[in-house]
Amino acid sequence: MEVVHLALGKQSYPIYIGSGLISNSGLIRTGVAGNRVLIVTNETIAPLYVDRLKDTLSGLDVDTVELPDGERFKNLETLNLIFDVLLTNSHNRNTTIIALGGGVVGDTAGFAAASYQRGVAFIQIPTTLLSQVDSSVGGKTAVNHALGKNMIGAFHQPRAVYIDTDTLQSLPKRELVAGMAEVIKHGALADRQYFDWLEESAEKLLSLEPDVITKAIKRSCEIKARIVAEDERETGVRALLNLGHTFGHAIENGLGYGEWLHGEAVGAGMVMAADLSVRLGLCDRADALRLKSLIKRVGLPVTPPTGLQNQLLELMSRDKKVSDKGMRLVLLEELGRARLVEDIDENSLRSTINAGKDLLK
Ligand SMILES: NC(=O)c1ccc[n+]([C@@H]2O[C@H](COP(=O)([O-])OP(=O)(O)OC[C@H]3O[C@@H](n4cnc5c(N)ncnc54)[C@H](O)[C@@H]3O)[C@@H](O)[C@H]2O)c1
Repeated sequence: MEVVHLALGKQSYPIYIGSGLISNSGLIRTGVAGNRVLIVTNETIAPLYVDRLKDTLSGLDVDTVELPDGERFKNLETLNLIFDVLLTNSHNRNTTIIALGGGVVGDTAGFAAASYQRGVAFIQIPTTLLSQVDSSVGGKTAVNHALGKNMIGAFHQPRAVYIDTDTLQSLPKRELVAGMAEVIKHGALADRQYFDWLEESAEKLLSLEPDVITKAIKRSCEIKARIVAEDERETGVRALLNLGHTFGHAIENGLGYGEWLHGEAVGAGMVMAADLSVRLGLCDRADALRLKSLIKRVGLPVTPPTGLQNQLLELMSRDKKVSDKGMRLVLLEELGRARLVEDIDENSLRSTINAGKDLLK
């Protein structure tokens, strides 16, 4: 088992990574605050893992709520299902909410934990690659509003994160590949050596070779933990984790959420960010091309969907990462180093958006 520490003063917590963790009773109980637990999961994950987790927690007073599956249910109505179970079963402030699932379950359960009785203990057991390398770490919780994604939420750090790598065995391939976008992103924005290693290991990662997948999850968690420790509330360096995301969110939004998975949109979004970085003279073409080629090799899209060109600029300027100072984007300086750039030259941005299949050609 590997452990990564997220250093946040009194809110510091461990991130455990290994095989079979869902069944590791001694370890999981260290994260539980009192003797009552609510497991929040969804209808897809429950039949696969919930009995195992209940066995692990035997002796504690455990309730479970199964949410409907999908990003479209990440909303206030679904959040209320969690509060209904908590209140009906008289959970008090000493309860612990455990999120068992991907980023949708984690974000929704996390916001329930942040707001139930002004905040209760929270544990993450992420079961998708994306949630293991990204969303379970860092304490961002939220649900969507009809007018915007992740618009209603809070920062609420978990007491511990338990990453059971065995859960990736049941994950659909398309979801695994989507998670690779965030893995590649971590190498591209923060660690060139990690990026080199990802190039060598991409196929082994996709076939879930245990040592390789564990190493990638650990390195990605270390990178995310270091950045969050420096800037929990995203007033500075944490914004770098959004490499490819402003383009990606615009693609997701333009197509309608769910058409492309988040990681697929981020894949194409990172290629667009790399293209713009080259146009603006910030980054060598060779590095940008390496990023594009790795994204392509793992099976992610490297061009935005056709037909969206006319909307993308407008959609990007609506993204919440746009500050009062105008369009701000995370761009690449070289593999392993990214930078937040303000006042982006609109003509260059238009050229990137209109390049379509000719990105980085
Ligand atoms: N909080 C953050 O910092 C942060 C960061 C990135 C993304 N997010 C959020 O994460 C969400 C996306 O998360 P995701 O990619 O994990 O998607 P997801 O939670 O929708 O999971 C993807 C699909 O896989 C299924 N699934 C999950 N684990 C499984 C398993 N082990 N076996 C079989 N099926 C399984 C789910 O039921 C779902 O159908 C978005 O809502 C996004 O906004 C949050």
